[in-house]
Amino acid sequence: MALAGDIVNAPTPVAASVDSRPKVEVDISHRYGALKVHEGVRFGVQENEFLCIAGPSGCGKTTLLDILCGLLAPSVGQVLIDGERADPKRHNISFVFQEPSTLPWLTVWDNIATGLRIKKQPEAQIDAMVADIIRTVNLTGFERYYPHQISGGMKQRVAIARAFATQADLVLMDEPFVSLDQPTRERMQQEVLDIWQHHKRTIIFVTHNLEEAVFLGDRVIILSAKPASIVADIPIKLQRPRDPLSIEFTALRAHCVRLLQEVHVKGGGAATAP
Ligand SMILES: Nc1ncnc2c1ncn2[C@@H]1O[C@H](COP(=O)(O)OP(=O)(O)O)[C@@H](O)[C@H]1O
Ligand SMILES: [Mg+2]
Repeated sequence: MALAGDIVNAPTPVAASVDSRPKVEVDISHRYGALKVHEGVRFGVQENEFLCIAGPSGCGKTTLLDILCGLLAPSVGQVLIDGERADPKRHNISFVFQEPSTLPWLTVWDNIATGLRIKKQPEAQIDAMVADIIRTVNLTGFERYYPHQISGGMKQRVAIARAFATQADLVLMDEPFVSLDQPTRERMQQEVLDIWQHHKRTIIFVTHNLEEAVFLGDRVIILSAKPASIVADIPIKLQRPRDPLSIEFTALRAHCVRLLQEVHVKGGGAATAP
């Protein structure tokens, strides 16, 4: 059985093992006043890659996503998308938040169609895209419902569908399943994989749940407690659909857990402080 040595690598420099320039290149440090949040966080993301970033609460994951979408300027360094500085006006970046964000005055259908309408896509094209994406996220039959008439899990499906409906350069997901119960969370993880397999996008998915990261990602980056740096950058070469009960999956998850535990030990109490 090929495990640690095969699957797991030490942190790699940006694009060390690939020929093409990454779609997204990150090289930043950030502080809020005296609070150092990131210390030399450097990685690349290939086009259509599903990258998971895991790290303890308060290590700066949401801050990193804010920097990635150009909402927040890093104290030092930059984020490049297709070789240009990330800019919400120039790049099409979708964000899925922890709490589902839907427009309460619009139906499920219109919530998903909104981004496409803003981009002035032809109506027929919008209809085809929305219908397809609604099938993928299992919202068929709920097209005319309003957000207050559906569950939290369904609202998050709407937010995910909206994020994938437009041709986003980058889809950022910030612990989107954290407030869902376990069975719903597992179903939604599979749906995100289905939607990504149908509508390939470059995804950065943040979570503090290592099982989720190993289940979803082509790659998992593990961050230390703040000031966060990259502790490990691990390609996940397990075939999909992945079985969380398989020996390979369990071993890989255990390896990630140990890495994160080492970070907690080295970081003392800091790792749990928000
Ligand atoms: N706007 C802000 N101003 C000052 N400190 C902040 C701000 N946003 C987050 N922080 C602090 O930065 C650290 C990282 O926060 P955050 O990025 O939300 O972490 P995570 O998402 O990993 O839980 C935390 O200590 C938090 O209190
Ligand atoms: Mg957060």
